[in-house]
Amino acid sequence: MSSSCLVLFLHFLILFRFSSSSHASSVYDSFVSCLASKSIAQSEISKIVYSPKNSSFNSILQAYIRNRRFFNSSTTSKPVIIVTPTKESHVANAVLCTKETNLQLKIRSGGHDYEGISYISDGPFVMLDMFNLRSISINVKDETAWVQAGATLGELYYNIWMKSEALGFPAGVCPTVGVGGHVSGGGYGNMLRKFGLTIDNVLDARLVEVNGRILDRKTMGEDVFWAIKGGGGASFGVILAFKIQLVRVPETVTYFRVERVLDQNATDSVVQWQNVANKIDNDLFMRLLIQPITVKSKNKAKGAKNTKTIRATFIALFLGDSSRLMSLVNKEFPALGLTKQDCLQMSWIDSVLRWANFDNTTNPNALLDRKGDPLNFLKRKSDYVQEPIPKDGLESIFQKMISMGKAGLVFNPYGGRMAEIPEDETPFPHRAGILFKIQYSVNWNELGVAAEKDYLSQIRDLYSFMTPYVSKNPRQAYLNYRDLDIGTNNQGPQSLEKGRIYGIKYFKNNFNRLVKVKSMVDPQNFFRNEQSIPTQTHSIHAQGAMKRRKMF
Ligand SMILES: Cc1cc2nc3c(=O)[nH]c(=O)nc-3n(C[C@H](O)[C@H](O)[C@H](O)COP(=O)(O)OP(=O)(O)OC[C@H]3O[C@@H](n4cnc5c(N)ncnc54)[C@H](O)[C@@H]3O)c2cc1C
Ligand SMILES: *[C@@H]1O[C@H](CO)[C@@H](O)[C@H](O)[C@H]1NC(C)=O
Ligand SMILES: *[C@@H]1O[C@H](CO)[C@@H](O)[C@H](O)[C@H]1NC(C)=O
Ligand SMILES: *[C@@H]1O[C@H](CO)[C@@H](O)[C@H](O)[C@H]1NC(C)=O
Ligand SMILES: *[C@@H]1O[C@H](CO)[C@@H](O)[C@H](O)[C@H]1NC(C)=O
Repeated sequence: MSSSCLVLFLHFLILFRFSSSSHASSVYDSFVSCLASKSIAQSEISKIVYSPKNSSFNSILQAYIRNRRFFNSSTTSKPVIIVTPTKESHVANAVLCTKETNLQLKIRSGGHDYEGISYISDGPFVMLDMFNLRSISINVKDETAWVQAGATLGELYYNIWMKSEALGFPAGVCPTVGVGGHVSGGGYGNMLRKFGLTIDNVLDARLVEVNGRILDRKTMGEDVFWAIKGGGGASFGVILAFKIQLVRVPETVTYFRVERVLDQNATDSVVQWQNVANKIDNDLFMRLLIQPITVKSKNKAKGAKNTKTIRATFIALFLGDSSRLMSLVNKEFPALGLTKQDCLQMSWIDSVLRWANFDNTTNPNALLDRKGDPLNFLKRKSDYVQEPIPKDGLESIFQKMISMGKAGLVFNPYGGRMAEIPEDETPFPHRAGILFKIQYSVNWNELGVAAEKDYLSQIRDLYSFMTPYVSKNPRQAYLNYRDLDIGTNNQGPQSLEKGRIYGIKYFKNNFNRLVKVKSMVDPQNFFRNEQSIPTQTHSIHAQGAMKRRKMF
């Protein structure tokens, strides 16, 4: 850089910093005065609104970031304001004031979005952080519950267990996942073959719509209620709470975790698993993890090499006792070689802890810990499989994974209740005909762009290698495994066409109904993000908003 360039550059920097910080404070002031005009007391506002100048801004922002890739985000992708509502009316007024100050709204419940889109954005935005709204009320007699969006799944499971050991709920296996994103994006866990998805067990909802009204199922109508059960809440409003149908769980369930490497005929077990896991008794859910690992050589002599192999790990929840499980698996899935010692009987709540990788001495109150595992850099992708992958196909996939070294696969079997529910019952379309879902997974700890580039290209490479074995036209994907590789929307003139690219993968033909509902309830596209549901026509308001943004 020449010295005159450098001077210019510094000049630019100073100008830029000056204008961006004065912009930030003026936005903060107008947002706060807007809230005051909605008759929220100043004493309340000062407790729930943060600007980047507040000393706790960063810790509030980072508290629910679950992907290290986005932990130290640049200034430009951070919110200009964070609101942490403690009442429903705060949410309604935050929506109105975000609109009035011409900002984008991002909504965060548990912050588990794999691409971080609940707390980062390209343009200036308000982050509405729902963590204070997390009350849970269980009605044991009705076997129902109301749970607020900011609660975690762990808090929900714990509260159900406190009230009744005979009840449970079919949702995700990671206790720190937030209800708001999880439920509105579909939600599945280890009881899906018996009870379906989380959204198949939702009875009612409370939602703040674009004009700040608080609606329930009756007042929002069946179209909107349909849309927020799997279409992603963030395109339609702010979910305050869901009413859910609890399910009955037996006193004793059985858990197993069985590992097989290639030398132990792992491939044969995987071949048989594909034909069995989606057809076997609905009480049984067997997840399959496939990972490349290095086995240390037993030969201590010099020059002895470690060998690379594939490990297949079968993790199961059976809603019954171990003897029924043993006879079922030995009859239908003999290639697994399951033994009595593998089968651990326990209560349902202990199985929740086990699936979350706690050991068998852990008290259920561990489910109340909102912090979760240490942060990793990570990337996820998803696919659906409709035909068993032939043995030689599996062998080539395993060799590919060994040669790459880090990316893993998780197979989650469907069938059972999943296959009985029609494709258009909810926006989530991956039902009958799906044998299993694949999650592609890579975690790393090395800092730097080179490592990130390497791991991202590894998982994308594996995804591309899998093309012959997975669903096509469209190549289906699961909304809650957010993946911006499959298409994004900049809300420009082509937003409907752009939205269709990822929308068809997530929702198949349900995308069209989602667009209709969206156009009806939010025609000006206030509730938008990188992969939101577009409106039918490009709105004049959106163009105006873009012009205004350029004027800042
Ligand atoms: C460790 C881990 C384990 C997981 N395990 C499972 C699993 O077992 N099963 C499964 O199905 N999925 C699983 N997921 C995926 C998870 O379901 C999704 O990431 C889900 O969207 C997370 O919800 P959240 O509220 O925590 O996320 P957030 O990042 O807060 O939100 C995700 C999306 O929902 C929107 N949103 C959040 N709250 C609201 C609201 N109140 N109103 C409107 N929109 C809202 C956000 O704007 C964003 O678009 C897992 C994810 C992680 C990181
Ligand atoms: C943020 O800072 C402002 C200005 O100092 C203060 O009035 C407000 O109370 C702070 N907000 C929070 C949530 O602490
Ligand atoms: C974020 O950046 C800071 C300062 O560079 C560093 O100390 C910290 O370890 C980073 N945090 C994560 C989670 O990467
Ligand atoms: C693997 O399969 C072969 C052939 O069916 C069999 O002989 C062998 O005992 C199996 N090995 C293990 C570890 O199960
Ligand atoms: C807990 O697990 C250990 C080994 O992992 C086992 O020895 C012990 O019996 C288990 N305890 C209970 C109560 O299941």
